[in-house]
This record gives sequence, structure tokens and C-alpha cells, in this order.
Amino acid sequence: MTEQQKLKWQPGRRDLLFFGIIAIVVLTLVLGSSERKTKPVPDDEMHRTATSRDACMTCHGSDGVSPQPKGHIKGGQCFQCHQQPKHWAGMQ
Ligand code: HEC
Ligand code: HEC
Repeated sequence: MTEQQKLKWQPGRRDLLFFGIIAIVVLTLVLGSSERKTKPVPDDEMHRTATSRDACMTCHGSDGVSPQPKGHIKGGQCFQCHQQPKHWAGMQ
């Protein structure tokens, strides 16, 4: 490769700016869309170790410490809508 060819492949400042803008747009879209999702399941001890729907419902049923809001769907797979904790202990 000659010296001149090498130089051709150097991205210029404008290219970097262009990629920077693309990255920002993509990031904004990704972060923006995740905000519209439902609340994630907190990644704390009590949520990491609840490994069945029944376990969730002992606290989030109508008699629990933190009932689901009125009109919340009955049944359903919790993690389909509420993001599962990162360090979750089980499989649903
Ligand atoms: C031992 C009781 C308990 C168990 C079991 C439990 N939760 Fe919770 N959960 C709570 C409490 C208390 C809160 C509210 C306080 C907080 O944010 O930590 C909460 C909050 C939440 C929230 C809302 C978070 C927010 O930002 O307001 C979601 C969603 C949730 N739990 C889902 C689940 C799911 C799904 C399971 C089963 C895998 C589960 N919980 C098991 C007690 C429990
Ligand atoms: C079809 C989607 C869907 C499923 C499945 C689902 N939820 Fe929800 N849940 C929602 C929506 C929508 C809300 C409204 C508030 C929000 O944005 O999180 C909500 C709210 C909640 C809240 C109150 C959060 C707060 O503090 O405002 C709790 C607790 C909760 N859900 C628990 C559960 C549990 C436990 C399960 C599994 C048995 C479950 N959800 C399954 C859609 C769902």
C-alpha cells in the first residue's frame, strides 16, 4: 500500500461527526422505546428469588403488601411485560 492509499482510508472529522450523529439518533430511539415499556421487576433480593407466579402473587395479589393496580390483567406471564431482574434465580 502506498502512503497515499493509506491516507484515503482515514476517516475525516466529518465522517466521525456523521457517525456520532447516527449513534445519538439510534441511542435516542432505543432508550425512548424502552421508556414506553412497563416497569421492570426490581433487581432486589425478594424479586430475584421469587421463581413462580404464585410467589409473585403472595405480595402482588389483592391481599399482598403491594397489590397490582386495579384493572391489571389477571394471569399472564409477569416477565412478558415486566422486565425480569438481571440476577433472577429461576426460570418461569
Ligand atoms: C416478598 C414480596 C414480593 C414478592 C415475592 C414479589 N414482589 Fe414485586 N414488589 C414488592 C414490593 C414491596 C414492591 C414495591 C417496592 C419496590 O419497588 O421494591 C414491588 C414492586 C414490584 C414492581 C414494580 C416496580 C416499580 O417500579 O414500582 C413490579 C413490576 C413487581 N414488583 C413485579 C414482581 C414480580 C413479577 C414478582 C415475581 C417474580 C414479584 N414482584 C415478587 C414485593 C414483592
Ligand atoms: C400484559 C402485560 C402485563 C403482564 C403479563 C403483567 N403486567 Fe403488571 N403491569 C402491566 C402494566 C401495563 C402496568 C401499569 C404500570 C406500569 O407501567 O408498570 C402494570 C403494573 C404492575 C404493578 C404496579 C407497578 C407500579 O408500581 O406501578 C405490579 C406490582 C405488577 N404489574 C405486577 C405484575 C405481576 C406480579 C405479574 C405476573 C403475575 C404481572 N404484573 C404481569 C402489564 C402487565
